[in-house]
Amino acid sequence: MSHLVSIVSGILGSLSFPFGVIEERFYGPSGEEVPLLFAFGVDSVSYHRALNFVRVGDRIFVDCFFKPLVFPLTNGSGEVIYITASNSIFAKSPVHAQYSAMMVYALEKVPLRGQHFLDLGAGDGLCSLLAKIRGASSVTSIDLNSQVLENLYKYIELNELSYDGVHTSCDDITSCDFKDRLPLNKITVVCANLGANQYENDPNIASILLLEHLPNVKYFLGGGYSEDPKHSPENDISLLRRFGFDKLHWIKQRKCEEYPNPKVTFIAERV
Ligand SMILES: C[S@@+](CC[C@H](N)C(=O)[O-])C[C@H]1O[C@@H](n2cnc3c(N)ncnc32)[C@H](O)[C@@H]1O
Repeated sequence: MSHLVSIVSGILGSLSFPFGVIEERFYGPSGEEVPLLFAFGVDSVSYHRALNFVRVGDRIFVDCFFKPLVFPLTNGSGEVIYITASNSIFAKSPVHAQYSAMMVYALEKVPLRGQHFLDLGAGDGLCSLLAKIRGASSVTSIDLNSQVLENLYKYIELNELSYDGVHTSCDDITSCDFKDRLPLNKITVVCANLGANQYENDPNIASILLLEHLPNVKYFLGGGYSEDPKHSPENDISLLRRFGFDKLHWIKQRKCEEYPNPKVTFIAERV
């Protein structure tokens, strides 16, 4: 673990009493074990349980309440990322949170500096934010829900980044209305954390079919799947193969009693 992340986790972990820390893990593309940690403390206003921080591997997502405490320690290093944790996707159901964490880790595994990133079903823009921090030249984020998407601008401000190259759009992926409005032809990396049979009208399939209009994409990151046959990535991967994405890298949860159908995220690479 990075030294800085371990210091910040230690300090904020001690503030997470009395609700404490939930620790999980999943496996990265080389079989490496990735620690995933959710730490809960007391909300300063409501005195109810609130998410303090989330650690995914060597990256830590900290609630902005702690920024005055943490920022001087970190000097704006991208290892510590500020969000409004309690409104973020990490604070939704554990299913959502784990899928997002696995997608965050997948993003760590692809080159993003200078790339043009498209986030389909961007939600609060967590993946878009990470792409921006990792040096993507442009970030285009699409979601049905404009209110959640607004968080991305807040996150960009919190992390003292510029809005340069950031485009958000409230659109339905399945309608393709946005095709001519957004700068899609230069996109090189796509992320779609939508899964199979998780949303109406299969936006996961629409995301893959959109590749027809994205000639320069090298990596397609798919999340929201599991080993449950109903949510299996098998069909989506066959479809990706038709677009030349033949090389696959997997991120998987460990199979256990609690997770008999482990969650699955993949990086499909066009070779
Ligand atoms: C699981 S969340 C993923 C959020 C984020 N990308 C992440 O990984 O943390 C899926 C998002 O897809 C959006 N979504 C579902 N169907 C959609 C569609 N047809 N068009 C656009 N967005 C859609 C939902 O509103 C939700 O915010």
